[in-house]
Amino acid sequence: MDDELMSTQPMDDQEASLERSLRPTTLAQYIGQDAVKQQLNVYISAATSREESLDHVLLYGPPGLGKTTLAMVIANEMHVQIKTTSGPAIERPGDVIALLNELQPGDILFIDEIHRLPKIVEEMLYSAMEDFFIDIVVGQGPTAHPVHFPLPPFTLIGATTRAGLLSAPLRDRFGIVEHMDYYTTADLEEITLRSADILATQIVKAGAHEIARRSRGTPRIANRLLKRVRDFAEVAGQSAIDAPMVDHALTVLGVDDWGLDEVDLKLLATMIKYYNGGPVGLTTLAANIGEEADTIAEVYEPYLLQVGLIKRTPRGRMVTTAAYEHLGLSKPEA
Ligand SMILES: Nc1ncnc2c1ncn2[C@@H]1O[C@H](COP(=O)(O)OP(=O)(O)O)[C@@H](O)[C@H]1O
Ligand SMILES: [Mg+2]
Repeated sequence: MDDELMSTQPMDDQEASLERSLRPTTLAQYIGQDAVKQQLNVYISAATSREESLDHVLLYGPPGLGKTTLAMVIANEMHVQIKTTSGPAIERPGDVIALLNELQPGDILFIDEIHRLPKIVEEMLYSAMEDFFIDIVVGQGPTAHPVHFPLPPFTLIGATTRAGLLSAPLRDRFGIVEHMDYYTTADLEEITLRSADILATQIVKAGAHEIARRSRGTPRIANRLLKRVRDFAEVAGQSAIDAPMVDHALTVLGVDDWGLDEVDLKLLATMIKYYNGGPVGLTTLAANIGEEADTIAEVYEPYLLQVGLIKRTPRGRMVTTAAYEHLGLSKPEA
């Protein structure tokens, strides 16, 4: 099956424009994540009524769960501009100054993949976040002199899939820290129905339910599967997508009954066949199945943990009894 399908990352231009068109723009349109929404609602109302900028926000959780979307929703609700960049894109101190220099009071700077900021840049952000200034040294040798840059009050929103990789001083400077969790099937069903509506695609509730159930708790995947299933329905001349059509399309696409893809299954099978079910270390496993260790840690492992097919132990990952059952294998006696 093609890797693109279950990838949790946005792909080409077409994909990116699909994502934009399906993005909710207000908190009310943002489905699920109720605890996060409730808290943000309070902070946004309070900051707005005090006419202050919103405290810095850190959003963390697996890819495709709506971190970028939420940052844009926050900007919209605060009625401010948002400037978007990413950790690896900010290479030099000058890049930070250029970014911050363009902000109006109250504006948002969104830094995606904030765990990948160069150290020197991260250190400049400390004073910028805390007291809205940056001190740098301009020039070299005898002409070198310190320059003090005052900044407008602004909000930094950072997003990361790996909160554990953030340094403590950076993490401590976020007043609002929100963890994004996998979505429930009910929420994903609602997201699928909403997306179908925007795409002017007919789908029955049971069809949306089937997509939701097999989307790994991830809105980005639900939207992507919907688009693919729509193609299958069109070719079959079926006007409304129903559950059997979803099942047919997803089976052809190699998405199993739990929404697991080839890599998930390979990962489980490798742990069972070559490591007796584990424990096995991440790097060993990555080398074995030919995937990046980071991808396994960020994309595959969190979901397999969530659905209880693997568990973490101090000595590495292990498969659970459920994994043997899911693969139709019998568990060896202990
Ligand atoms: N709460 C939500 N309600 C509706 N759609 C959502 C929600 N969260 C995410 N999406 C959809 O999923 C896609 C991916 O979300 P995105 O914000 O890019 O995820 P992340 O930044 O966490 O990787 C978006 O195009 C958006 O349409
Ligand atoms: Mg994103």
